[in-house]
Amino acid sequence: MTIDQETPHAELGVIGGSGLYALLDDVTEVRVDTPYGPPSDALFLGEVAGRRVAFLPRHGRGHGLPPHRINYRANLWALHSLGVRQVLGPCAVGGLRPEYGPGTLLVPDQFVDRTSGRVQTYYDGLPLPDGTLPEVVHVSMADPYCPGGRRAALDAARDAAWEPVDGGTLVVIEGPRFSTRAESRWFTANGWSVVGMTGHPEAVLARELGLCYTSLALVTDLDAGVESGEGVTHAEVLKVFAGNVDRLRSVLFKALESLPADRDCVCSHALDGLTTGLPGVVSG
Ligand code: ADE
Repeated sequence: MTIDQETPHAELGVIGGSGLYALLDDVTEVRVDTPYGPPSDALFLGEVAGRRVAFLPRHGRGHGLPPHRINYRANLWALHSLGVRQVLGPCAVGGLRPEYGPGTLLVPDQFVDRTSGRVQTYYDGLPLPDGTLPEVVHVSMADPYCPGGRRAALDAARDAAWEPVDGGTLVVIEGPRFSTRAESRWFTANGWSVVGMTGHPEAVLARELGLCYTSLALVTDLDAGVESGEGVTHAEVLKVFAGNVDRLRSVLFKALESLPADRDCVCSHALDGLTTGLPGVVSG
């Protein structure tokens, strides 16, 4: 790993999605290289309420990267290498129930992976740079999101008088196309709540690094099986996101401010008991 400024550091991270390409005003731009190649963009380091925060635009600042081309491993690795231990992942999603219309903020507690071909592990059986083999690792994903992060996000939204939906299942599709009506109706029939393209494998890779990860899903449209019109368009997604980005930003700030400084959650213990982890990746 190489960092081209002197020992930049952050404790909290935000990976911004479609429509959220910048978060903080006063930032230092840091380029980080990783064993998995470059992340989506530079990392932008600044402060929120005295806490060091690194922001990374998931699709790159000019939105050049579609969801299936994002180097998720490099993104999470880069954040971890700067010292980040808690990550908020805001994303745009489609609602799978009529009551989850545009402008709804949902903090999921589960996801369903409908992607294909995305690398979702650091533990792929290959030798480490020093020639040793890391252990075979199977992290628990029963509860994929950080309980403390979810609480902070929910409280922050309520403080901002934006009543969030507490829990629900985020279906992550491969994209870049949107779902057919049949797929969308199937998601709804299964009881799933919202559909997006980026929540997986972010949450999994975060867990493999022992990071806390919390998804904040902003509904920008009703998905094809729920709405009666022509189906969702990217322009609609961006327009609705833009209309909500200011309040989303203030919810993120409040949540960052209140994330617990000391971690004792399932995420922080994900790697307990490992003897041969990845270089620089330790439990706690
Ligand atoms: N992102 C925003 N809206 C979406 C939808 N309907 N399906 C998948 N990803 C989305």
